[in-house]
Amino acid sequence: MEKISVIGAGLMGHGIAQVFAVKGYDVAIHDPFPDALASVPERVRANLRSLGYDESCVEKISLHSTLKSAVEEADIVFEAAPENIALKQDLFEQMSTATPAGCILASNTSVIPIGQVAARAENPGRVLGTHWWNPPYLIPLVEVIQAPCTDLIHIEQCMGLLQRAGKTAVHVKRDVPGFVGNRLQHALWREAISIVEAGICDAETVDLVVKNSFGMRLPILGPLENADLVGLDLTLAIHNVILRHLEASPEPSPLLELYANQQRLGMKTGKGFMEWTPESAQQVRDRLTRYLSDAIHRGESFRDGAVKNKI
Ligand SMILES: NC(=O)c1ccc[n+]([C@@H]2O[C@H](COP(=O)([O-])OP(=O)(O)OC[C@H]3O[C@@H](n4cnc5c(N)ncnc54)[C@H](O)[C@@H]3O)[C@@H](O)[C@H]2O)c1
Repeated sequence: MEKISVIGAGLMGHGIAQVFAVKGYDVAIHDPFPDALASVPERVRANLRSLGYDESCVEKISLHSTLKSAVEEADIVFEAAPENIALKQDLFEQMSTATPAGCILASNTSVIPIGQVAARAENPGRVLGTHWWNPPYLIPLVEVIQAPCTDLIHIEQCMGLLQRAGKTAVHVKRDVPGFVGNRLQHALWREAISIVEAGICDAETVDLVVKNSFGMRLPILGPLENADLVGLDLTLAIHNVILRHLEASPEPSPLLELYANQQRLGMKTGKGFMEWTPESAQQVRDRLTRYLSDAIHRGESFRDGAVKNKI
């Protein structure tokens, strides 16, 4: 697989294009909004500069104002358009007729089941999910999701490509909403919000607890390794006491809905669970980029256990 296409040139799309351009692949990117499309080279250059990488690979990325011209020669298309099911269904229908027959069609949806994204695609055996994480050029993991319609051969080909591009690809064998990573992440966020809502502690304290305790261990000790480490007898004893007290609401928290309705949206409006200035928000972003790029430069190999989850 040599020819990569990316649909949607936003936060995720330009970063996915960058991953493949750095590895020497030709990448065609499409966005219907001219400004979003035109700014791709400068955004990729800025990312590469911040990492101290050579910027010349930007020339591997071609800009396309129509979907057809971006995908007509593609071996694989990564869709990174907005999280809207009707839009994604429409794009996959268009892509399935505009691409060569064997071209793999991958959605970067965060939580929508891939079978639903593929609902109107012709030949849906080549539709699968590739759930990347932001920023895609710094976070190693890509979940590769197999829907009931997906042919296994395309999962294998896609995982091979991602591994050659330096990513940690894992096979998600059931097409459940949120896949693996976002189910885990949002189980934690639901409990975090619930703790604040119940007045157990404030939002700053929740984050201090996470960052100064189990959060420090997570990069080298996943939850199931940790359960094995402390013993499943202790884990069972803890669950016997705690599980009935954890938040289990199937609806979003009323506090979250209230804040969202008040346009209290977080860093972009200056206030969310905490208060932000443009400077303090930028400091957090810069700290995160430094931390992630240091981890990549150190070439940390402790995450490699995840690669064991091959087909
Ligand atoms: N932001 C994240 O952290 C993150 C992480 C993982 C997955 N995702 C998922 O990736 C996808 C893209 O998210 P994002 O954060 O990059 O969003 P974004 O808003 O930054 O980018 C979306 C891009 O799609 C373009 N677009 C709009 N209509 C389009 C169309 N009809 N065809 C093609 N492109 C179109 C927009 O102009 C924009 O540039 C979503 O499905 C999202 O859920 C996001």
